[in-house]
Amino acid sequence: MIQQAPMYRTHHCNELRSSHVGEAVTLCGWVNSNRDHHGVIFIDLRDREGVTQVVFRPEESAEAATASHKLRHEDCVRISGQVAARPEFDGQSTVNENIETGEIEVVATGLEVLNKSEVLPFQLDKELSNEDLRMTHRYLDLRRPRMAANLKSRHKIMKAARDFLDETGFIEVETPVLSKSTPEGARDFLVPSRLNPGKFYALPQAPQQYKQLLMVGGVERYFQFARCFRDEDLRADRQPEFTQIDIEASFVTENDLIALTEGLLAKMFKAGRGVDVAVPFPRITHQEAMDQFGSDKPERRIGMEIVDFSDTFAGSGFGVFKGAIEKGGKVRAINAKGFAGVTTGQIKRLEEVAKEAGAGGMAYIKAEGGEWKSPIVKFFSEGEKEAIRTRLEVEEGDLVLFGCDCWETVCEVLGRLRLEVCHMQNLLAGKEDELDFLWVTEFPLLAFSEEEEKWNAVHHPFTRPHAEDAHLLAGDDTSVYGSIRSQAYDVVLNGVELGGGSIRIHEGKLQEQMFKALGIDGEEQELMFGHILESFSFGAPPHGGIALGFDRIAMLVAKEDSIREVIAFPKNNKGADLMSASPSGVDFKQLRELYVKTTFREQKERQTQQQPEAEGNKER
Ligand code: AMO
Repeated sequence: MIQQAPMYRTHHCNELRSSHVGEAVTLCGWVNSNRDHHGVIFIDLRDREGVTQVVFRPEESAEAATASHKLRHEDCVRISGQVAARPEFDGQSTVNENIETGEIEVVATGLEVLNKSEVLPFQLDKELSNEDLRMTHRYLDLRRPRMAANLKSRHKIMKAARDFLDETGFIEVETPVLSKSTPEGARDFLVPSRLNPGKFYALPQAPQQYKQLLMVGGVERYFQFARCFRDEDLRADRQPEFTQIDIEASFVTENDLIALTEGLLAKMFKAGRGVDVAVPFPRITHQEAMDQFGSDKPERRIGMEIVDFSDTFAGSGFGVFKGAIEKGGKVRAINAKGFAGVTTGQIKRLEEVAKEAGAGGMAYIKAEGGEWKSPIVKFFSEGEKEAIRTRLEVEEGDLVLFGCDCWETVCEVLGRLRLEVCHMQNLLAGKEDELDFLWVTEFPLLAFSEEEEKWNAVHHPFTRPHAEDAHLLAGDDTSVYGSIRSQAYDVVLNGVELGGGSIRIHEGKLQEQMFKALGIDGEEQELMFGHILESFSFGAPPHGGIALGFDRIAMLVAKEDSIREVIAFPKNNKGADLMSASPSGVDFKQLRELYVKTTFREQKERQTQQQPEAEGNKER
């Protein structure tokens, strides 16, 4: 007969209730806190699930009580004892209503120290602003209840998503991590191949091509929790390594994919936050999003819609507005309600933001003390003033901010100003629980890059043009490219882009036209995408899909401001893992085996050689 090993523990630290009183139990965990009450030691024992109070009374076990005096914070211990109702003390109840195990305590009869702890570099029960210190000791940071809750919530929503997709006929297929560069718009992380000297794999920015090839392969409904890698500048909602819920399906319409995603997100928010998300989500076109909010991921909870005054100022006495309109530009404005008391410093900051977004300057009006204070109002006619007053609903105490330039710049400027005003006025206070889901549809297919002097795909080269605009791609008139709409859609929550997808091109001819529009000619097409073009010639089914940023969803479910709070071991904003000191140097032998030589040192030396020369030049 096989002997069962005795159980390490009988319960976790958030399990015992009044109904357990009298039971012999064994708990394991860490010493969260300890108190000495006239020689009687009380500890809060913490594990992943919560906290249980343990009391060491000499009359129950002299040995355990003596040993308990030596316990320190974060010692890892195993305690056996008996569950007791918390007694009264001086006629007062000692029940702690703030914790779920607050009605009981465990009277210890045995104490085993599994491992002692040194003094921690930071306290776990205090919020710590030094993120570097947290990340250097991330394994300790993860012991905080907040981090434990975030990881649990991430697990729950991942399971809910997996179950939902399984129930709706999707199968999970893993695609290669050592793969080929995909044009998703960021830089690739490259991996040298020892067996193929001088050649490199690219880590996937997204499994875009593989998932489309799975559709050609007849998989019909695919999903994957896909690790993606993008070498780009980092922000609070960007990591170099992140997770997508990647989805692709055959024989589906845009509406099918939108409905599926809504169901999926509703399931995840229910599982993670217990809230019922209203579906369907509203939809606006890309053009509407830009016109009304100056952003393709609009934060709509703050109002402040952009209003167009191009007609109003077409023949204006104010030359700056009139001139911009004559050049085909726009004059638009927002009303920052109740912000006429803006400080000079804040106006300066708003001007900076407008300039960063491409504006030459920033015109504004303060409605204050019964008049409009602004250097430009004197140029406005009564009719123009009336239009501003009525259409922006200007009242005493408001601040009106203008943008006047080409359409793109005006959108960008007022879009950024809206968010800056929101930040300055703290407009989101009290709206933390509002969930504003939104679809942005009909993205343009192509955008012209002045810098590269070429057309680029707004989503990626596999996105299908809108049926009504597809013929424009076939012609040679590149001037119409900017007006081609695509069958691409993004899902946005509270101003954060959660995901994006599209119906795809599945015909070789159309795909070739798209590559051509992007400046990828026949030979290059063959080299980079020959496999895709060939696959489309074998009865590739119509298909489409979407990828959702899983870390961003986890962040919003957990009401965090950064995805670093929901990733176990994230990188900092320089792409470094401070705990393991990665990335790190490798030895010469390893590089030689990979046929790789770094030019970092030579470049550094060249720079330092050039420096004195340059300084010498200055002196002359
Ligand atoms: P896209 O590039 O829009 O589409 O990516 C989809 C979603 O992934 C998330 N995301 C990120 N999350 C964290 N850190 C990053 N660096 C990062 N970059 C992107 C965002 C984004 O909306 N292959 C296409 C999808 C498709 O067409 O099916 C794609 O990857 O939430």
